[in-house]
Amino acid sequence: MSESEDKLWGGRFSEPTDAFVEAFTASIGFDQRLWRHDIEGSRAHARMLNRVGVLSDDELAAILDGLDQVRQEIEQGRLEWSVALEDIHMNIEARLTELIGDTGKKLHTGRSRNDQIATDIRLYLREEIDFLRDEIRRLQQGLLDLAEREADTIMPGFTHLQVAQPVTFGHHLMAWFEMLERDHARLGDCRRRVNVCPLGAAALAGTTYPIDREYTAELLGFERPTHNSLDSVSDRDFAIEFSAAASLIMMHLSRFSEELVLWTSAQFGFVELPDRFCTGSSIMPQKKNPDVPELVRGKSGRVFGHLISLLTLMKSQPLAYNKDNQEDKEPLFDTIDTLKGSLRAFADMVPHIRANRERMREAARQGFSTATDLADYLVRKGIPFRDAHEIVGRAVALGVETGRDLAEMRLEELQQFSDRIEEDVFEVLSLEGSVAARDHIGGTAPARVREAIEAARARIAAD
Ligand code: ARG
Repeated sequence: MSESEDKLWGGRFSEPTDAFVEAFTASIGFDQRLWRHDIEGSRAHARMLNRVGVLSDDELAAILDGLDQVRQEIEQGRLEWSVALEDIHMNIEARLTELIGDTGKKLHTGRSRNDQIATDIRLYLREEIDFLRDEIRRLQQGLLDLAEREADTIMPGFTHLQVAQPVTFGHHLMAWFEMLERDHARLGDCRRRVNVCPLGAAALAGTTYPIDREYTAELLGFERPTHNSLDSVSDRDFAIEFSAAASLIMMHLSRFSEELVLWTSAQFGFVELPDRFCTGSSIMPQKKNPDVPELVRGKSGRVFGHLISLLTLMKSQPLAYNKDNQEDKEPLFDTIDTLKGSLRAFADMVPHIRANRERMREAARQGFSTATDLADYLVRKGIPFRDAHEIVGRAVALGVETGRDLAEMRLEELQQFSDRIEEDVFEVLSLEGSVAARDHIGGTAPARVREAIEAARARIAAD
């Protein structure tokens, strides 16, 4: 098909493009997903050209009408993408000209594919960021509801994956919430730098037409036009920044996943995932595997990889546009698709996580999780913390030897380690006493967790 089809840039060439080179350099296979944004950008550009007197009213009407027909054809799957036409921009422009004749050829006045693609990606990414931020909120709402239900549920808190101190499950869930809160803010911050308009930079140096860049920017809902034409067509910082934010989100989801995988195991048995989010084994009839968290954990790797791809893509490019930039799309698109899928799976699944409260409580009773509480108790009775630490260490050693928790020892037994220990010690050694005592901003006391949930709900409602 290539030989017969005239290239839109064919003027200075004396032989047709090599068939392999044509396919090798084409981007239509993947940049077709930008078609809506490409048309939106073209509409704004045409309206601006009309406003400054470069296109007549009739020409503008014909172009807008033609673009609308192209839109319908694409929507209905009637437009066949042509590799010979290289990319989304030329596919749409060529079809427009087929439909409306020579007026279609005027659309590209004062514009280049270089500022066009930069605009398309920004429009597209802005839309996806808005969607992703909503998905993060949906997941956060699920966490808040679950945290509220589990505000009093006691589980072991871990450091080094060894039982450390009791915490509430609600508190643990709110830690996940906080990670996502930063992710939501980070995407919002990134969006501000996405939301500027490169149109008008043309190929690299700007254009000789009396363009009105403020107007184009406004039509497309951008904050403002970009400041420098060279930077406008070559800047992909915003895509890298987005990938970094996406990588952090995937890292967070991967950490949740890791915990869910551990917690759904028979050894922990802390939570249960709904059957519809799990799969079985083709050989072992008893299996219920946490596939969704495992897959999300696995998918984090490709998103991190895309971040490195984009950084490497940009690191040696001289100003301004280079064809290298065409390689920005696949990593960016896959990052978005992966993130969307992972967030969706989590947002759908989290509200249905069931806590096994007895198992959690039982686990918190093991591993001497209230040892620090006993040390703090001795400090309140006047013993310096280091000495208290030593005393409790010896009590723990007895517990290890006799297979009992501190709370299971008799008062006289505990008193052999310190005569300051009295009857009231058992309140301190209880799990409820332990969590309730951590009663400050950011602490695990159920009352504080409820407060944190309420504050989070108010913050979300306000933005
Ligand atoms: N397909 C190109 C890209 O993705 C569009 C811009 C091409 N510009 C050019 N001068 N070849 O970056």
